[in-house]
Amino acid sequence: MSLVDPGAAPGLPAAGRLPVRAMIDASRARVVGRVRESEVIAAALAAGRSVLLEGPPGTGKTTLLRALAEGAGAGLELVEGNAELSPARLVGHHDPSRVLTEDYRPENFVPGPLVRALTSGALLYVEEVNRVPEETLNVLLGVLSERRLHVPRLGIVDAAPSFRLVAAMNPSDSVGTGRITPALYDRSCRVGFVHQDADEETAIVRRDHGVVDAGFLERAVRATRATRAHPELRLGSSVRGALDLVAVAASLAELRDVGLAGRLAAGAESTGTDAALAALTGRVQLLEGSTRTVEEVVAELWAASAPVDEQSGSGDGDAGKA
Ligand SMILES: Nc1ncnc2c1ncn2[C@@H]1O[C@H](COP(=O)(O)OP(=O)(O)OP(=O)(O)O)[C@@H](O)[C@H]1O
Ligand SMILES: [Mg+2]
Repeated sequence: MSLVDPGAAPGLPAAGRLPVRAMIDASRARVVGRVRESEVIAAALAAGRSVLLEGPPGTGKTTLLRALAEGAGAGLELVEGNAELSPARLVGHHDPSRVLTEDYRPENFVPGPLVRALTSGALLYVEEVNRVPEETLNVLLGVLSERRLHVPRLGIVDAAPSFRLVAAMNPSDSVGTGRITPALYDRSCRVGFVHQDADEETAIVRRDHGVVDAGFLERAVRATRATRAHPELRLGSSVRGALDLVAVAASLAELRDVGLAGRLAAGAESTGTDAALAALTGRVQLLEGSTRTVEEVVAELWAASAPVDEQSGSGDGDAGKA
């Protein structure tokens, strides 16, 4: 196995290998499913490539990358991409008050996430990369080509062998999709993320809320997933909605001294509805022209998510179905 990236230009710092097996093991331990994505990302990073993760919010991109970085034994520098991410914020700056008395010196340079990642050999993870201003993206593109950065008045900063760039973006986010994005695509491997299936989403919620009734967890996931297919909604909720729904319901149930189950007792159905409204109404968006409110749509989805068989098959009168 070569330690030198064959694609690196002579004289420039090369990417070293990363421990692909340890990365995958760490992701298996911390991430539900995502086996294919984890293998492909780990393999690409191990081979010295940078990666673009593309998928809707809440699909586990950050969770997976954190696990892979941990498995690689590399740090993770996380940067939120937005219009305020100037080159100076990304790279770092000289402390202006110290410059006044000491002039420009390496000691008074305050490194930003890019310089920290380059020198420590961390993974630099830039979320919402399509929101980053073009001049800042240009800095990143330069680093991708050269594995080194020229910082005015500081000098050349070479990338440590384990340094990699991982960028993430939401494909339906049209904010600031600049001209530069094709250049980033051309220098990265791309891995697409879609929502996981119901069983895996239930397993994600169960990891955080193992003590909550399994039927209730399944119902919370069912209601959350239904927001993604509802004809009146243009945006549905990620699994974060189900995680919040169960968390809020568990607290409310304790407060109100009611039990949670797939089929809630008459006195507990409103607790499920309250939790669903709190967890989901802010995460969904109505299609333009819809005549109903998000509250009405979510309340209806919650009611419809009650398990069908128990609901109709039971004669004990406490179905509590709205
Ligand atoms: N496969 C998974 N395994 C374990 N937890 C997951 C998984 N997918 C999502 N989660 C959980 O769902 C939540 C959202 O995941 P995460 O923050 O990784 O999503 P993301 O894709 O980075 O979202 P965004 O695009 O908004 O940054 C987290 O609480 C995370 O723990
Ligand atoms: Mg994220």
